[in-house]
Order: sequence, then structure tokens, then C-alpha cells
Amino acid sequence: MGPAGRKSINENLPKIIKKKKIDFVILNGENAGDNGVGITKKNFQEFINAGADVITTGNHVWDEKEALKFIDSEKRLLRPQNLNQGSPGKGYGIFHSKNNKKVAVINLMGNIFMKKSEDVFQEAKKFIETVKLKKDADFIVVDLHGEITSEKMAMGYFFDGKATMVVGTHTHVPTSDHRIMEKGTAYQTDVGMCGDYNSVIGMNRDNSLKKFLKDPSAVRHYPALGEATLSGLMVVADEKTGLANKIEPIIFGGSLENRI
Ligand SMILES: [Fe+2]
Repeated sequence: MGPAGRKSINENLPKIIKKKKIDFVILNGENAGDNGVGITKKNFQEFINAGADVITTGNHVWDEKEALKFIDSEKRLLRPQNLNQGSPGKGYGIFHSKNNKKVAVINLMGNIFMKKSEDVFQEAKKFIETVKLKKDADFIVVDLHGEITSEKMAMGYFFDGKATMVVGTHTHVPTSDHRIMEKGTAYQTDVGMCGDYNSVIGMNRDNSLKKFLKDPSAVRHYPALGEATLSGLMVVADEKTGLANKIEPIIFGGSLENRI
């Protein structure tokens, strides 16, 4: 989330990867830009340099216009698979982890209280009919970028036993319902943001409050710049089944209670 979130990723992600011996990192980068929306090529490259393997996005994917261009030549940048037809880029890909396993990553966007897009459950169905766990990929990760918890939880059950993990993004607040579901898929309704939590979902709190109060001196939202909390989820998965063995939230720095 904005400059504060980028700083935390750049400083802390390499250390966490090393400490926890992490083989594959997925980062949602749709709020990386200086204004807290969109992602530039420079932001993308910084995340790759910090150790990210794939960058997912969401409703703000095109807010930095250059993303419309560089997404076609950069397959590690994903946009939601169910964006309206004709959108540039791709919604999923199969990548290689540091330990040379095939990891399929799909980015989906919810339909409720979000920008209009294709039916997210139909797209999820099409995807899982095409990419099967242990046949086409060793592990499958789903980033469901969505506003409401019910849609995300239902998607968790849809993929239970078929994907390694289903993780929600977009609300910018980590939920404490992380668990391994009955058939072995790791799940968390929302992983939270890497950003300054003394804010309104990463945006300057005074200005945001003015907007809610309809104060005429309110300006366009801009990011809060205090120390960020890096918020993530680590999953250990079984190479034989592709399903989750262990799930552990990572909350580091800033104002949230740390868990690492
Ligand atoms: Fe979003």
C-alpha cells in the first residue's frame, strides 16, 4: 500500500524469505503506486528484486496506465482472470518455485460490491477444469480479490481439496480465520495489507474522515506514510498431495500486534 508498504516489503521481505526458507512468494501489488492505487513497472521490479515470484492485482490494476502496456510482456504480473473480455494480460499462469516445483497462481475478483466483471464462480470452475492439482501443477494458489466475506468463504469451499490455498485480498485488514479446511486447502478470508494501519485502509485518516463527514476541504485520497505493517500468510504444503500441512500468518512491524 503506497510508499510505506513498498518500503516495508523492500526492507523486510528478503529477510523473511531467508529466515523462513520460503520457496515461492506471491504479492498483491495493485496499491503499490505513489497514490496508493495501481502499479508501475518500477514498483513491479522492486517487488521482484525483493523476492516476489508473482504479483497479483485487482480492481486498481490499470490505475497506473503503464500497467496496461507492460503486463503483456511480463507474465509474472497477473490481473483478475474474470476481468471483462478483451483486457490485456493474463489472469493465471504456471510458474516455477526456487525448489523447481510448478506453482499455478490465479487472480480472481469478486462480483459483489466490486467493478463489473465476468461471473467469478464460473471462471473459477473453468480454471480448475483446465489446471488440475498434481497433474498440471504441484501447487495451486488462488488470490480472490473481493469485498465481502461470504463470497470469499464460498470460494474457499469451492476449491477445498482442489487447490493448495485460497487467500482473500482487497479489504486491507487481516482476518483471524486462517485455517486448513477439511479437504486440505489453506484458507484466509483476507490477508490484510502491507501498509500503515494508522489510516483508513492505508489512506490518510484525517482526509478520509473529512470525506465521510462531507467536509469541503477534503481532497483526493492519498496514502498514509507512517511505518507499515507487513501482513502475509505462510503455508507449508505437501509435495505429494499439493495440499496444505501448516498455515501461519506473518504480521511484522508497524502498529499491528506482531506475529512472526
Ligand atoms: Fe482492491
